[in-house]
Amino acid sequence: MTAAPPQSRLPRHLAVIMDGNGRWAQRRNRPRTLGHRAGAKAVQVCVDFCLSRGIEALTLFAFSSENWNRPEEEVGALMKLFLRMLDSEVGELNRRGVRVAFIGDRTGFPEAIRERMAQAEALRPADQKLVLTIAAGYGGRWDITQACRSLAADVAAGRLSPEDITETLLDSRIGLAGLPAPDLFIRTGGDLRISNFLLWQLAYTELWFTETLWPDLSDEVLDAALAAFADRERRFGLTSAQVAGGAT
Ligand code: IPE
Ligand code: IPE
Ligand code: MG
Repeated sequence: MTAAPPQSRLPRHLAVIMDGNGRWAQRRNRPRTLGHRAGAKAVQVCVDFCLSRGIEALTLFAFSSENWNRPEEEVGALMKLFLRMLDSEVGELNRRGVRVAFIGDRTGFPEAIRERMAQAEALRPADQKLVLTIAAGYGGRWDITQACRSLAADVAAGRLSPEDITETLLDSRIGLAGLPAPDLFIRTGGDLRISNFLLWQLAYTELWFTETLWPDLSDEVLDAALAAFADRERRFGLTSAQVAGGAT
């Protein structure tokens, strides 16, 4: 067993594409929806892991803007599962110091889910340890578009001039505003792509992929990701020598 990386080499913010639920079920000759239910349990594994390792922010991709185009039956089953999870988990998460937030276009969601989302976001844990953001109805392109629309509205109303639009200002209108950008991105399920997740926010995030299917997630897999992250040199466009604080 390798020693855990020191706190300074840990990501503050972890972003995860939870992929592979359908294949997990299909390998067992079971319906895809069973895989989603097993995936919900893996969310607990991931949250517990972040709490135990002192990670401050966790952003989970739960449902993409494109996932609305899946068969009606699967979308319906996912909506039922979201509702059940919101009802059963949010109170306990709050007690454990987890603040819950959502990013994404909520317009397609049933009213009952939108209500629960708003209620969950209104809760503030007494002793906050982790910010858990669920990306639902989320697409990176949608996110950038809605930020642009919000800036354009300010310009049209005369509150903002185009010259004053900076990266920082756009960043403040985009999902996850107020959190540091993700340090580490993990995708389970073996596919090597971003699938319209946090396109703006992942600019300098370290990417890590695993064949493990989401429902099979374990502390060992997550520790392997943290170990890989601790070994990376994040240069942000600088030279190695600059990063090391030496000569340029
Ligand atoms: C991820 O698992 C969960 C959602 C997209 C809601 P998938 O359902 O995409 O599982 P695979 O990729 O088909 O195995
Ligand atoms: C990405 O997974 C979205 C979520 C995990 C919620 P998908 O399964 O939708 O991605 P693609 O279609 O394989 O790119
Ligand atoms: Mg998938």
